[in-house]
This record gives sequence, C-alpha cells and structure tokens, in this order.
Amino acid sequence: MSEIISLAKSYEKYFKIGAAVSPRQIRKHHDLLLRHFNSLTAENEMKYDSTEPEEGHFCFDKADSVVAMAREMGVKIRAHAPVWHNQTPAWMYLDGNRPAPPELIYERIDAHTKALCERYNRDVYAWDVVNEATRDDVPDPEKNPGESPVYRNSEYYKLCGTGFMEAAFRSMEKYSPDARLFYNDYSECVPEKRNRIVTLIRGLREKGCRVDGIGMQQHHFAAPDYDEIKRSIEIYASMGLRIHVTELDVSMMAAFNQGSRRLKPGDPGFDEYIREALKATPEKLSKIDEIYVRLFEIYRSYTDVIDCVTTWGIADDYTWLDFFGMRRGMPPIKQHPLLFDEQGMPKPCVQQLMDAVK
Ligand code: GLA
Repeated sequence: MSEIISLAKSYEKYFKIGAAVSPRQIRKHHDLLLRHFNSLTAENEMKYDSTEPEEGHFCFDKADSVVAMAREMGVKIRAHAPVWHNQTPAWMYLDGNRPAPPELIYERIDAHTKALCERYNRDVYAWDVVNEATRDDVPDPEKNPGESPVYRNSEYYKLCGTGFMEAAFRSMEKYSPDARLFYNDYSECVPEKRNRIVTLIRGLREKGCRVDGIGMQQHHFAAPDYDEIKRSIEIYASMGLRIHVTELDVSMMAAFNQGSRRLKPGDPGFDEYIREALKATPEKLSKIDEIYVRLFEIYRSYTDVIDCVTTWGIADDYTWLDFFGMRRGMPPIKQHPLLFDEQGMPKPCVQQLMDAVK
C-alpha cells in the first residue's frame, strides 16, 4: 500500500484541513499548502479595514492573492470576518462628527457585503459573518451600568444593540445564498461564555436570520478541558448548527503546569515569569503534540457535524502568538503552536494524526 503523505488527503473522509494564511506566508509555504491543506482562510486580508479602508474605496489586492492560491490548490475559501469589533475602520461608527445612526451602519454593512460577495462568491464556501460579539465577563452594575450580560459592549453594540448582527446576516444571506453562514467566537467551550453564544445564536434565529454554523476558534491557552469540548460540540450540534474549528492553535501556555502562579502584564516580575513559562522545552513541545492528537481524536468522533478544522497559521515560523499577551515593547517569544515546525516540516503529531486514520 502506498504511504499517505498528505494530511488533507488522509482526512478527506472526515473534514477539510484548513490554514489561515497571508500573501507572505503563501509565498513561503506554497508547496506545503498544496500538499497538506484543502481549505484556506485569509488571516487579515478579508477583514473590514483591509478591504474598505475608506468608505466606498475597496482594496482587494491582498485578498485576491489568497483567492489565487485557493484556485491553484483547487479549493475554496472559509472567509473571515467582515463584522467584528476589531480591525474595523473608525468611519464605520461616525456620521460626520456625530455617532452614526443604526440605519447608516446597516447600509454600510450591506454595501460592504455586496462588494465582497460580488467579487468572491464563487470562491467562498463559508463566511464568518459576525466575529466575537459575546462578552467575556459578567458586567459589574457599578462599573458597567446598563451593559448587556450577553453581548460585548462594542461600538457596534453601543450604537445598534444586536441590530448590526442581524443586518450582517441578512445582507450575507442576500448576496451569498449558497455559502454557509457562521457565527465565530473564542472561549466557546467555557460554560458561561458558551451560554452567551447559544443565546446570541438563538436571538439571531428568532429574528429570522439564517445562522448555519458555529465557528469554534479553539485557541488553546490552557490545558484543554476535553470533556467540555465534547459537551460544547454536542450542545451546538443539538441546535442544528454545523461546526467548523476555525482558529486552532496550542500555545506554550497549554503545555505549562496548570498549578503555576500566573502573572499579568504589569505585575512585578512579569517579563522573567513569561519568558520562563513560554520557553520551548522538549517536554512542552511533546505535550503540544499530544494535545493535537487528543483534539483530533475528539474532532474525528464528531465527523457527522464537523466539516472543517483550520489552524491559525501554517507553520511555526510565523504565529500571532509570538506577540500575544506581551507587555508593549517586549521582544517576541517564539511559540510553537501549529502542526508544522519553523522549517515547515511536519511535527511528530502529523504522522500520528495520519496513522490514526489509516
Ligand atoms: C481572533 C480573530 C482572528 C485573529 C486572531 C488573532 O481570534 O478572530 O481574526 O485576529 O484573533 O490573530
């Protein structure tokens, strides 16, 4: 029997294997992408500030180069993430010098969605229509008077309540009737946050919006709670949602001793502590491998509802985690959160993932 040498090919019967990419990373890892992946997501290039930096002035060069790579691979794009409280230009929230009224925001979202869909419909199979609109914590009535216990108090929410999400889903459904429409979020397996996500999706559906699926980001900053991951998949699936793992990576923190003290940026001794905590040791690297193997075991057991597993990056030479959670000005600390190493070589877990489905 010939050896299976592609992760995506070996997982064909289970789900697609995706990567978040930038034009630069595409150039660097062109052959690796062709061989091991069958879904692509633009890491930043389809976001609002990249595609419409000034109102009505669209800029598609970078997004086009991601789409060109997808065409070369013969695959489609999981597009991400037009309506989000980050990476959205300030003009969105303004009408001249005054706060924009909700109707103007809905018109802007509609025009933006139309432009994106007209250009990319034939290349896109799923959209993260709205990203990260639930809040992380319980609002303190004194510090956060009047804030919602469910929704993030973003500029969008302050100006429109939940209307901006409804507008986003309605416009996407109108202009992209054939793609699957997703709500995407992080900490999606933490029970309190998961409840907020469930409430958000139910609310959208009650308003008549088509929400086909949940994007489970799966950024792992702590040792995964495998039971909660399973429970979450089951809860989301019981709502009739398709599931895409959208931003999988495993931070060195996830391989770090749970019981250890935790310091935050600004605490005395933070720099030394974080350097130590995030230092790559052979033990931590093999722990990350082990976590991948266990996560994929779970994903495979829900292959009836999971359509795609995307890692947030291609290989360890470039990952947003090198810069995340650091004090401003601190030099990056090299992280190793992906399936391929800094040279683009498969890590030991890749062979294990392929062996598991032989
Ligand atoms: C969030 C977003 C992504 C990306 C990552 C960090 O998870 O959904 O688009 O910005 O943060 O890079």
